[in-house]
Amino acid sequence: MICQDISSKLQKELETMTTESTAGPKTMTDVLGLYIKDVIRAYPPVGDVLGRSGIGCVACSVGSCLLRDVVGIHNLSGEQEQALYADIARIIFPGQTMDIPKTVRKAAPAGNRKLAPPLQDLVQEHANIKRVLAQLPTLGATLRAGLTPELRLSVAQALDFIRQYADRFHHAKEEDILFTFFDAGSDILKVMCAEHEAGRQHVRSASAALEQGDAAGIAASLTAYAALLTEHIRKEDEILYPWMNSQLTDSQVGQLFTKFREVDRQFEAGVKRQLAWAEEFVFSPILH
Ligand SMILES: [Fe+2]
Ligand SMILES: [Fe+2]
Repeated sequence: MICQDISSKLQKELETMTTESTAGPKTMTDVLGLYIKDVIRAYPPVGDVLGRSGIGCVACSVGSCLLRDVVGIHNLSGEQEQALYADIARIIFPGQTMDIPKTVRKAAPAGNRKLAPPLQDLVQEHANIKRVLAQLPTLGATLRAGLTPELRLSVAQALDFIRQYADRFHHAKEEDILFTFFDAGSDILKVMCAEHEAGRQHVRSASAALEQGDAAGIAASLTAYAALLTEHIRKEDEILYPWMNSQLTDSQVGQLFTKFREVDRQFEAGVKRQLAWAEEFVFSPILH
């Protein structure tokens, strides 16, 4: 699987990432070639400037993206990108007049284009997942009163939905199909895969806590999972998919469509069952 290859490479890269890369950039071109985490660590106000442009790198747990790629993928207009670079230059090179690298666009900003149908399917799946995620902190809070058999069952069913629908069905479409149309070594895919893996770890922790009857452990893992995946989905909906949409050819969209339909057919019965459970879960009296 593409994400397994990526996570071992990513681990190595993160281990070798040193502060060398922030040692004295001389030009804005140097700055754009630095790792984003190193830039923000050395110049914290850069994180605020990026945040104001909707680029939330401060909260990212990976940080192996280059500043240039981070900015490039966020679909800013040429003017916005130039203004952002100028703001960053003022922070890193105060009082100096710096040349700002020209903005090069491969395609029109993807935000102006409608997502291709296979990507729209993924966004709809996100909507289904988000309805369940929104209830997980509440489910965690109800556990404080005691882990009744009814609550145990709800936790087990929620974990089953996450494993089967969010991970096996939806993430498999992403990792095994969509991501294979792009460079496995690209920073954005490394981040997405690392977040999928972090989500799986939260699910394993919640499951272990359920076995041990550890209500606080279940609540902590479910809440952490909901926060992680909600932010992950936001990045995919607002950044990753629009960017991918701008890069895919018509023929690739056709291939995606065919492959997604195969997965839909393969998981049809399970998906129907999982969505029916989700519908009941969000209106369950134990959450209200
Ligand atoms: Fe994802
Ligand atoms: Fe997703």
